[in-house]
Amino acid sequence: MRFVSIVGARPQFIKLAPVSQALRREHEEIIIHTGQHYDYRMSAQFFEELSIPSPDYNLEVGSGPHGEQTGRMLAAIEQVLLQERPAWVLVFGDTNSTLAGALAAAKLHLPVAHVEAGLRSFNREMPEEINRIVTDHLSTRHFCPTETARVHLEREGITRGVEVVGDVMYDVLLQVRPELEARIDRLLAVVGISERMGEFAGSYVLVTIHRPANTDDPAAMHAIARALNSLEMPVVFPVHPRTLHKMQGYDIRWAKHIHLIEPLGYLDMLALQRSAYRVLTDSGGVQKEAFLLGVPCVTLREETEWTETVDLGWNTLAGHRWQAIVEAVYRAAPAPTNAAPFGKGDAAERIVRSFGDEE
Ligand code: UD1
Ligand code: UDP
Repeated sequence: MRFVSIVGARPQFIKLAPVSQALRREHEEIIIHTGQHYDYRMSAQFFEELSIPSPDYNLEVGSGPHGEQTGRMLAAIEQVLLQERPAWVLVFGDTNSTLAGALAAAKLHLPVAHVEAGLRSFNREMPEEINRIVTDHLSTRHFCPTETARVHLEREGITRGVEVVGDVMYDVLLQVRPELEARIDRLLAVVGISERMGEFAGSYVLVTIHRPANTDDPAAMHAIARALNSLEMPVVFPVHPRTLHKMQGYDIRWAKHIHLIEPLGYLDMLALQRSAYRVLTDSGGVQKEAFLLGVPCVTLREETEWTETVDLGWNTLAGHRWQAIVEAVYRAAPAPTNAAPFGKGDAAERIVRSFGDEE
């Protein structure tokens, strides 16, 4: 069968990697990159590092306000879908590229399969929440990463074509995990934390921030900076381009122990997470990865879609309240757990197998 996979933003390239690999063993795949993310460090380096086939189409939509960006994608995706007429359209996660892909396909009566279906934050101020709800209601197949996600769909009346397959990001993480340990010394030296072997492994904090609720609110960013400045250990902060642009107007003073660096490649990012004392983030993917790598996480949001990480004690929601952030960083690590809420690392295989049923 012919599949069209639609991606556009950093986390989607990572989610595409294992699915594309499994899909191409049995089917034809055409990749559309909307061009939502375009910097080398936000896009091409993930294709290279994860050996993802080059996109067949790059729509070069670029940045812009939501309506404009999504609208440009919609028009361009429609043209490609009319030309390629796939049996299935695959969309991933919850970005504007996901929404545009699902909407363009559904209007052409092409069936949509949603990878990472059923996630909900119950906060409609997040653009991703709107994208997820609409995408789930337009999709024919729903591949849920967790049982919680399946229950969310059920509550919205979506019960057909739903399968809990686990999280495709876990598939990728398992593939690259053996390579992580060897990278950390070089990385800490590059960041400027340590020249000596593993000296600071386990005693620095890794931070990522890109949610509009933080980046677009100067008071939130000042409060987060206050928390980071008051920590008594090195802080490594790979800065998302959105955050970089927004922070330029905020006049934030960073203490010497804060290391602001460019966005990292996937393997470096995982290696830095794995050896961190704590991970602080408002990213969805990073919350999960911290859990899977056994590092306690402090989430710089008031709610999360990945509630299992909180319920199991590995994630603390601290919003942008500076004292809550500092307290959460110094809280004792929870007892190790054998719980596996994100599946077994075979989500991509299960997704592809489920299409085999209908041939
Ligand atoms: C997008 C997704 C978000 C996802 C995140 C992953 C939406 C609504 N948001 O947020 O769900 O978690 O990607 O990282 O789809 N920029 C660059 N270079 C790039 C890409 C972006 O400089 O390669 C800058 C531009 O100034 C742009 C801003 O970042 O305006 C935001 O980019 P955009 O893709 O609109 O949203 P993200 O915040 O990246
Ligand atoms: N990531 C990365 N380099 C970075 C920051 C994040 O490779 O500098 C990876 C991270 O490990 C995770 C994914 O990007 O796999 C998460 O993407 P992001 O935080 O941009 O989006 P979200 O998951 O919140 O949608």
